[in-house]
Amino acid sequence: MLPGSDARLVREVHWEMTEPPVCWSQAAPVWHFTRIEHLSTIIDQGLLSDARAKDLGLMTVEVGNTDIKARRTCRQVPVEPGGVVADYAPFYFAPRSPMLYAIHRGNVSTYQEGCGRLLYLQTTIERLAGLALQIVLSDRNAVLDYAAFHELVPGNAPPEDFIDWEVMRARYWNNTPDEPARRERRMAECLVHGGVPWEAFTEVAASSSQVAHEARALLARHGIATPTTVRPNWYF
Ligand SMILES: NC(=O)c1ccc[n+]([C@@H]2O[C@H](COP(=O)([O-])OP(=O)(O)OC[C@H]3O[C@@H](n4cnc5c(N)ncnc54)[C@H](O)[C@@H]3O)[C@@H](O)[C@H]2O)c1
Repeated sequence: MLPGSDARLVREVHWEMTEPPVCWSQAAPVWHFTRIEHLSTIIDQGLLSDARAKDLGLMTVEVGNTDIKARRTCRQVPVEPGGVVADYAPFYFAPRSPMLYAIHRGNVSTYQEGCGRLLYLQTTIERLAGLALQIVLSDRNAVLDYAAFHELVPGNAPPEDFIDWEVMRARYWNNTPDEPARRERRMAECLVHGGVPWEAFTEVAASSSQVAHEARALLARHGIATPTTVRPNWYF
């Protein structure tokens, strides 16, 4: 079933696990998903921007839409610290993103292996800021030329409605006649310039106990005990 194809479900708020917050006053969790094959080098070198991960030859399985990713190498970030979107490690404000759905549906022509081996790495804005990382927010899919950007520095909180918290909390994010931008707003991003060290991450999540077990073994080999959970509700 397409998300939200039943109109009654469009407004449903249905997070059994971690609830995205309702406003900036709470520590907003953010998520990056990646293939489990990347876990070891992310532990060692941090979660890097697309540009850096490619330069260092660390990204072994490309799950993203290559056309969109090419556009991200040209899309300027109009606030400090600037550069292009591909210079930042990207996070979403909710699991079950439209990108994950495209992968699930086999709509990324260059990646047809589904979501089973994708891990979520979770952190919070508060934690990223506490590590003195440079954070930029986009109010929707950052590649869109009309996306708004906000440099997140102390004393410079974004407008309350910069992130659409309601759409973040919804299980189904399809566009409606009244709200034709729900899908792109669900793709609002927390962008971290350069990369994010492993210590930022508070949880690793997998879709199955088998993949979680594999991830725990990898973490143990690095002497790390980041909580690793099975959260099928974060997947399609
Ligand atoms: N993956 C997400 O959760 C996420 C979040 C927000 C936005 N997006 C957007 O979706 C599209 C595709 O995103 P993407 O997932 O390809 O991310 P990306 O564009 O940042 O590509 C970098 C890839 O390299 C991986 N990587 C980073 N550091 C690494 C390391 N040290 N070792 C090995 N691999 C490493 C990343 O996990 C990712 O797979 C882009 O448009 C992206 O910005 C994705």
